[in-house]
Amino acid sequence: MVIPCKMEAKGVSIFLTWGGSVKGIILAGGLGSRLYPLNMVVSKQLLPVYNKPLIYYPLTTLMLAGVHDILIITTPQDQPLFQRLLKDGSQWGIQLSYATQSHPGGTVEAILIGASFIGDQPVALILGDNIFYGEGMPGILKESSRLITGGLILAYYVKDPRQYGVVTFDSNEQVLDIEEKPERPRSNWAMTGLFFYASDVVEIAKEVRPSPRGELEITDVNKYYMQQRALKLRLLGRGNAWFDTGTHESMLEAANYVATVERRQGLMIACPEEIAYVMGYIDAAQLEKLIVSYRKNAYGDYLHRLHASGRR
Ligand code: DAU
Repeated sequence: MVIPCKMEAKGVSIFLTWGGSVKGIILAGGLGSRLYPLNMVVSKQLLPVYNKPLIYYPLTTLMLAGVHDILIITTPQDQPLFQRLLKDGSQWGIQLSYATQSHPGGTVEAILIGASFIGDQPVALILGDNIFYGEGMPGILKESSRLITGGLILAYYVKDPRQYGVVTFDSNEQVLDIEEKPERPRSNWAMTGLFFYASDVVEIAKEVRPSPRGELEITDVNKYYMQQRALKLRLLGRGNAWFDTGTHESMLEAANYVATVERRQGLMIACPEEIAYVMGYIDAAQLEKLIVSYRKNAYGDYLHRLHASGRR
């Protein structure tokens, strides 16, 4: 059930929709040539980050946001592999569908390819190489997925922001500018690869033209909302972790981070079975069925302990 209501914040009308109708898109295509030869025959988003394929991390980020109708966009040649791994999502109580991008023309193509999937619903778009983790993340994600007019971006403070979209903002956290990969960044706040948009994003995406590097940049969509004063900014504080796993170093850093936290705590990051169970997408009987496929390995042991504890 969807219950719309309206509230005022800093003079801007914000519509909130409660009821989990936000669609999700994971953009998991691209050449990823910075990682060659590692991903020459298998998509980067299927490579491991410690003990799970990379795609599990953005997928579970959307699940934690309460999104359970998700479109996965891949290269045509990799699509069957993603389908073999993730199936139709019903095993995790979610709905997964698939589309292909024949050529990596830019991140905005996720919106264009997903236009009919989005329809008149709001959408959360996540880039397939982004990993988010932190104590407050589930709350931030759920709250962000409820903002329905305009757009919402999340920014993260980094030492060297030159390889990202860089956000500048005023003392009210009103976005003043976003520059894509500037040589001289005007702030240390990197735009992460997770975006929440109203359904009008489809019309905005159609107007975007290729950047100097020849791509349809998601930064231009965000700048459009910014110019309309309809772009919200959410700053991720220092208690959170964000990785963009575009290079060998960042993949290794992310894997080391996941390994360190998981080994220390004995709790997993981005385990879809656990998140599906904790979010109430599946019940204990379904969790038990899933455990069977991981007989006698550490992942199965973990799920078994989760099932036995009844922890939610
Ligand atoms: O990760 C955050 C950054 O993502 C932002 O700070 C930047 O503003 C934004 O432009 C984007 O920059 P990247 O250079 O990291 O984007 P990249 O081209 O690496 O693409 C991100 C992911 O999306 C990657 O996993 C591949 C996939 N992709 C990319 C393009 C351009 C596609 O599937 N298709 C594409 O056409």
